Amino acid sequence: MNILIIGTGYVGLVSGACFSEFGFKVTCVDHDKNKIKNLKKGIIPIYEPGLNDLVKKNINNRNLNFDLNANKYLNKSDCVFLAVGTPSRRGDGHADLKFVFKAVEQICSNVNKKIVLVTKSTVPVGTAKNIKNIIKKYKKDELITVASNPEFLREGSAINDFLRPDRVVIGANDEYSRLLLNSLYKPLNIRQVPIVNTDTETSELIKYASNSFLAAKITFINEISVFCKKTGTNIGDVTRAMGLDKRIGSKFLHPGPGYGGSCFPKDTLAMSKIFKDQRIKFNIVDSVIKTNDKIKKNISIEILKIIKANKINKVLFLGLSFKPETDDIRESSSIFIINYLLKKHKKLSISAHDPVAIPNAKKEKLNIKYYSDLNKSFDNQQMIIIGTEWNIYRSINFKKLHLQMSSHVIYDLRNIYIHDKEIVKLGFRYYSLSSK
Ligand code: UDX
Repeated sequence: MNILIIGTGYVGLVSGACFSEFGFKVTCVDHDKNKIKNLKKGIIPIYEPGLNDLVKKNINNRNLNFDLNANKYLNKSDCVFLAVGTPSRRGDGHADLKFVFKAVEQICSNVNKKIVLVTKSTVPVGTAKNIKNIIKKYKKDELITVASNPEFLREGSAINDFLRPDRVVIGANDEYSRLLLNSLYKPLNIRQVPIVNTDTETSELIKYASNSFLAAKITFINEISVFCKKTGTNIGDVTRAMGLDKRIGSKFLHPGPGYGGSCFPKDTLAMSKIFKDQRIKFNIVDSVIKTNDKIKKNISIEILKIIKANKINKVLFLGLSFKPETDDIRESSSIFIINYLLKKHKKLSISAHDPVAIPNAKKEKLNIKYYSDLNKSFDNQQMIIIGTEWNIYRSINFKKLHLQMSSHVIYDLRNIYIHDKEIVKLGFRYYSLSSK
């Protein structure tokens, strides 16, 4: 089976590498010359654990290659995956499908054999239908059938999420597409991975509904965490006891400074919009979007208050990425808080450390100092804010840190040290998302 993947972002690259790992012949194309040049040499443009090796391995065994020109491979392919970006259209939250439709037009203009055209990027409900209309306009509906195969990849664990998914969702309105896509995932049969076969619209909805629910679950526990902080109740015990209820589950029940990333913010907005298009208000998701923004804002206000109350002039952020094991800073809470502080406190000197996200953070042109050496970053700091729960921040030597800092305030946005009694004994003023 020959697979063509259009778009080599997080989704396209991981999907291409994993399909080639299944043994299929995969070509990934992108219009970014530099990116393709590097990918051909096995140089990966994103930080994703395990991706480097997987790409190199499959380039070497000739299952995977990269190119600029989709047309060279189109008529040798059995299926074409659209893994192009579907960013939130500024302002109204709709997913912007211009890259999707541009790829579809290009395929329609050049295809001369039967192919299944599959949307892998997260696309609004009804996109497959819109794609079919374009295909009809080009009179290619005999050759091209359309299917939906949404990804559920988390940055930082994307390879595992692809090779060991909880389920595969296949949206197809014709037998040919359904059979072809099911055959692509046959290698997962050994792990008895459930495959949900449904129609294209339902498949598109499943992706948005899943992400919106996860965003709601996180926002729910973030609000409980705010209550626990106010009342001195124990958020750790609350999440543990809730999570033991199999109907709730312990995953995505960790309080934090608000969710970020390229998906939850975009997908919740798009979900709200596609409901509005049907003249229905999605009350829960609308509230999740508003609440998540409020959580980030309220934490920023509280941190500013602490800075002023303690006459802090130098703050060090530990962690800039929106979550550990990724270099992605999109909608990161750390970046949100840094921007807030830069705006509200002109004299504050802000520094930051992050294991991998500094190059992406630098593109934001923030007026802050960056450290790649964690130990050096501590020198003469007055306050440390733990923004992302990278493992490297879980073993800080507080005795040594106390000597390095010129005053001793810690805000732990990820509750890493919430049970560490030594910190306060050493004379640190320790703040966290909740008191226990
Ligand atoms: C998400 C979905 O999980 C994935 O299925 C989809 O395909 C893409 O979007 P991703 O955005 O990469 O994946 O990261 P995820 O691990 O879901 O975390 C999203 C945000 O939620 C991060 O900011 C993270 O810090 C936050 N989060 C996650 C919490 O605050 N608490 C949790 O318990 C889990």
